[in-house]
Amino acid sequence: MHTVTVDLGERSYPIHIGAGLLAQPELIRPHIAGSQVCIVTNETIAPLYLQRVVQLLDGLQVSTVVLPDGEAHKTLTVLNRIYDQLLQDRHNRTTTLIALGGGVVGDMTGYAAASYQRGVDFIQIPTTLLSQVDSSVGGKTGVNHPLGKNMIGAFHQPNAVLIDTEVLNTLPPRELSAGLAEVIKYGLIVDEDFYAWLEANLEALLGLEPEAIAMAIRRSCECKAEVVAADEREGGLRAILNLGHTFGHAIETAQGYGNWLHGEAVATGMLMAMDLSVREGFVPAPELERLRHLLERAGLPVTSPADMTVDQFLSLMAVDKKVLDGQLRLVLLESVGKAIVTKRFSLEHLRQTIAAI
Ligand code: NAD
Ligand code: GLY
Repeated sequence: MHTVTVDLGERSYPIHIGAGLLAQPELIRPHIAGSQVCIVTNETIAPLYLQRVVQLLDGLQVSTVVLPDGEAHKTLTVLNRIYDQLLQDRHNRTTTLIALGGGVVGDMTGYAAASYQRGVDFIQIPTTLLSQVDSSVGGKTGVNHPLGKNMIGAFHQPNAVLIDTEVLNTLPPRELSAGLAEVIKYGLIVDEDFYAWLEANLEALLGLEPEAIAMAIRRSCECKAEVVAADEREGGLRAILNLGHTFGHAIETAQGYGNWLHGEAVATGMLMAMDLSVREGFVPAPELERLRHLLERAGLPVTSPADMTVDQFLSLMAVDKKVLDGQLRLVLLESVGKAIVTKRFSLEHLRQTIAAI
């Protein structure tokens, strides 16, 4: 097992990464302060892993909430089911919520924990690659609004993150690829050597070779932990974690939540960010083909939906959380391994990028 720490002073927490962690109660029990827990999961994950987690909680009052599966259910209406269960089972302020699932379950459980009785503890047990390397770490929680993704939410850090790499064995290949998009993101934004390592080890990752997958998760969590520790509430630096997301959120919103996977939309969005970085003269042109090749090898889409117009993109991008004083800022690249947040790009180049990718 390897442990990465998210260093946030008295709110610091461990990310434990290893094979078979769901059989180790000693990893989770120290992070449960009271006698009540509520496990939130979904209808796909419950038959696979719920009982294993229940077994870790012997002697505690355990409630469970099984949500419908999918991004389309990441709504305020479905969120209510968690509050209903907590109140019905009389959970008090010392309760601990446990998110067992991918990013959808994690974001919803985190927001329920942030808001139930003005804030209770929660633990993340992420079960997709994407949630293991990104959404379970850093405390962003929330739900979608029909007019914008993740528009209702709160920062609320978990008490611990338990990553059992063995759960990836049941993950559909398309979801594995979507997670790889976020892994590739870390190479692009902060670690050129990791990017080159990913190029060299992509087949091992797609084949879920244990050492390679553990290394990719660990390095991704280290990158994310460093950025979050430096800028927890996204005053500046943390925005680099959103490379490709402004384009990607526009795709997700336009296509209807769940039709494009989040990681797929981010992959195409990262290619658009790279394309614009090349047009602006920040990055040498060959880097665009290098990224396109890596994303294709990972099984990720490299062209935006044919039915989306440039104007539709621009209009959806205008509701991005990085818009300040009416001005769009984007995460672009100065080089592989160095991202910047900037409003220094021409609208003409942006239009050309959207039309080209
Ligand atoms: P997801 O939660 O929808 O999970 C993907 C699919 O895999 C689901 O059908 C799920 O039931 C299934 N699944 C999960 N684990 C499985 C397993 N081990 N075996 C078999 N099936 C399994 O999607 P995701 O990609 O994990 O997360 C995407 C969400 O995360 C989006 O809503 C996105 O906005 C959010 N997100 C949040 C952050 C953050 O910082 N909070 C960061 C990135 C993404
Ligand atoms: N996934 C972006 C962030 O955590 O800030």
